[in-house]
Amino acid sequence: MIKVVHTIDEVRKQVKEWRQEGASVGLVPTMGYLHEGHQSLIKRSVEDNDKTVVSVFVNPMQFGPAEDLDSYPRDLNADTKLCEATGADLIFNPEPEEMYKEGFCSFVDMNGPTAELCGKSRPIHFRGVCTVVSKLFNIVTPDRAYFGQKDAQQLSVIKRMVTDLNVPVEIVGCPIVRENDGLAKSSRNTYLNEEERKAALILSKTIFMAQKLVEEGMKDANELISVMKKNIESEPLAKIDYVQVVDFDSITVKDTIGANTLIAMAVYIGKTRLIDNFIVSGN
Ligand code: PAF
Repeated sequence: MIKVVHTIDEVRKQVKEWRQEGASVGLVPTMGYLHEGHQSLIKRSVEDNDKTVVSVFVNPMQFGPAEDLDSYPRDLNADTKLCEATGADLIFNPEPEEMYKEGFCSFVDMNGPTAELCGKSRPIHFRGVCTVVSKLFNIVTPDRAYFGQKDAQQLSVIKRMVTDLNVPVEIVGCPIVRENDGLAKSSRNTYLNEEERKAALILSKTIFMAQKLVEEGMKDANELISVMKKNIESEPLAKIDYVQVVDFDSITVKDTIGANTLIAMAVYIGKTRLIDNFIVSGN
C-alpha cells in the first residue's frame, strides 16, 4: 500500500530506511491532478529505480499574481490511486507552510535559458521552479528525477541547474504523451469547454505540420515561425503568446534549424494558456 506523507521529516526517515537497505530512489516532481503524461514518468522511474517518490505540490512560488494558482485542479485521492496502480512507493504532499517556513527568503534563480519562451511571459516562473525543485532534491536526495518534454524549457533549465550547482542527480527527460486526437496531455486541459477543446487542436496540428516541414528540409527558422503563426491564427479562439525556435540546451534563439533545435509555442485558447513543442533529433 502506497504511503502518503506531508512532512519533510517523514520523507527523510523513509528515504534513510531505503538507503540502509541499499535501494535506489527515483523522484517524479508533480503539481498533482495526474494524467497519463505523469504516469509515463512514474512508470519510467519504477522501471529504473528500486523506490519511487512522487511529490504532489502546487508550488505557489512559480505562479504569477494574475495566474491560476487558486483554480489549479487538485485531487489527491485520484492521484494516490494512480500512483499506487503505477507502482510508486511514496507520495510527498506538503502544505505550502511546510515547504516555505516563516522567514523563507532564499531562492535558486537562473539567467540565460530562462530569458526566452515561457520565461518572457512568466517572469518569476523559473525562479519558483528552480527553488522548489532544488528543495525537493535536497529533501528526497534521489538518484534520478523525471521530467516531461512537454515542458521542454523546464527540462532544459533543470538540466542546466544540476550541472551548474553540481547536484548529484541524473535528470531523465520523457516524451510528450498526447490524447488520441493529438492534444498534449496537461492538467490545464480540464479548463477547456467543449468548443475550446476542439479549438485547442490547433496547437498539435501546427506542431505536426512544422515537424513535417522540417523533415522535408525546411531550415529557415523565421520562415517556419511565420507558417506556424499563420496556421494558429486561422483558429478564431487562439491567441499566440509565442512561437519560437531555439537551441534546446541553451534556449538561445536560432535562425537555422538543425539537430537539437527546439520549436516551441504557447497559445491561449480562451483564457487557458497551453504549450506544445518538438525537438529536432539527428544531425
Ligand atoms: O512541471 C511541474 O509540474 C512543476 O513545474 C514542477 C516541476 C513539479 C515544479 O513545481
